[in-house]
Amino acid sequence: MSYEKAMEAAEFIRQQYDKEIKIALVLGSGLGAFAEDLENAVRIPYEEIPHFARSTVEGHAGQLVLGEVSGVPVAVQQGRFHFYEGYEMEQVIFPMRVFGLMGIKNVILTNAAGSVRTGFKPGNLMLLRDHINLMGVNPLRGANDERFGPRFPDMTEVYDKALQEIAYDESKKMAQERFESGAEKELKSFMWRGVYCALSGPTYETPAEIRMFRLLGAGAVGMSTVPEAIAARHQGIKVLGISCITNLAAGMSDEPINHAEVMETGTRVAGIFKELLRRIISKIN
Ligand code: HPA
Repeated sequence: MSYEKAMEAAEFIRQQYDKEIKIALVLGSGLGAFAEDLENAVRIPYEEIPHFARSTVEGHAGQLVLGEVSGVPVAVQQGRFHFYEGYEMEQVIFPMRVFGLMGIKNVILTNAAGSVRTGFKPGNLMLLRDHINLMGVNPLRGANDERFGPRFPDMTEVYDKALQEIAYDESKKMAQERFESGAEKELKSFMWRGVYCALSGPTYETPAEIRMFRLLGAGAVGMSTVPEAIAARHQGIKVLGISCITNLAAGMSDEPINHAEVMETGTRVAGIFKELLRRIISKIN
């Protein structure tokens, strides 16, 4: 049934926007500003799209924005459906199903995340090289619809290597340019590579849990992205994942973690983040 529902949603979106879309983006907590700069934008609130759930968390506008970035048509999910909000996994991944049926071949998943490594500072970005799914569920559990993809999808390369290289190269160029223009006093990278560990939330982690995730090889922790990445791979969509490090994870500083800090850091890096996304999109195209 989900396939038919996704088809209906895809048709509905196509009627509002007829340009061929190559790239979809999902904007994480505090990172919604990117959607404000799209050219010739069409905004569709989630409640108007057939079978879409509604976003409830603060900091998520809850709309699909279709428009152009440097002339490249993109679909942007401004606000996502989190598992911790109470949505079924089917609802969490529904937009990805729709993107796939719209013929979109690349997706950029972004999120706010806590750093598990002292070297990954708030305001830095982390390029996902892999993930560990500790949400306790898999979004593909249940009957498989072969029209989306195979029963047992391979997850050897969830985050596309070629897309990772594009993102990494662009971040390097930006760091160089920021240094040369005097915007930064020293030449410093703002993007690292690491493994994203997904938890169901909504609690932040305990310090003992964070120590465990560090031992497991995680670079950052968060409450999203993995369900969408799995669904996208199931459908053969290429995935690029970028975390905005908004805070040091639990126990790594003297401060407790709060949502306001997460949102603030997102706003603080919005400029760099938008510019990086714009460059990546031009390069993918
Ligand atoms: N933990 C989990 N999710 C998060 C965090 C964190 O520290 N920061 C932003 N999202």
